[in-house]
Amino acid sequence: MPLENRIIVVATNNEHKLKEIRDILEGFKILPAREFVEDFNPDETGDSFCENALIKARALKKYVNYPVLADDSGLEVFSLNGEPGIYSSRYSAEGTDQANVEKLLNRLKDKEDSSARFVCCMVLIVGERIIQKEGYVYGRIIDVRKGKSGFGYDPVFIPDGFELTFAEMEPSEKNKLSHRRMALEKIKAELEAFNV
Ligand code: IMP
Repeated sequence: MPLENRIIVVATNNEHKLKEIRDILEGFKILPAREFVEDFNPDETGDSFCENALIKARALKKYVNYPVLADDSGLEVFSLNGEPGIYSSRYSAEGTDQANVEKLLNRLKDKEDSSARFVCCMVLIVGERIIQKEGYVYGRIIDVRKGKSGFGYDPVFIPDGFELTFAEMEPSEKNKLSHRRMALEKIKAELEAFNV
């Protein structure tokens, strides 16, 4: 089948993620979960990014005959023993980007080491086959917010080898480096290898 006819349904309705996935998996038709299920929002009860991604992928596969792709991602700060980790989106009581970043900066106040990484686990289910891949981007957390683009912890994260935060970069520049790209490139290689 020509590549452009290939459909993958993604277990997210997050426009940022959909755009990033469409950019990277160009040639595939990427459809959001909402085209198949109303209010798709399974409970993320896993203990790791990959467990949560698998929960989302399996939940969506029940409704869809096409290949499905799910991701789970977050930030790990080494001097905080991996916090916020799988709790990245619900780190603060409010759970907003603003409050989550506030809490992170407070927790880091007395720490010398602010090195961190973004992690992404992607799970693709094609028929009976489950393909699971992780991607990382390493960097550090700064103590003031800089930049307006992106989401989540982008305004306080500077990737290694750069002077700008993710929120100061053009989205296309961030997408070249991101943890989602790293995981997706590995998924893409599998898709090509198996001629999905
Ligand atoms: P989830 O993968 O949708 O569960 O997202 C987890 C959370 O991790 C998001 O709400 C953000 O707080 C954070 N996160 C994941 N990826 C990024 C990113 O690329 N930039 C900034 N924050 C991110």
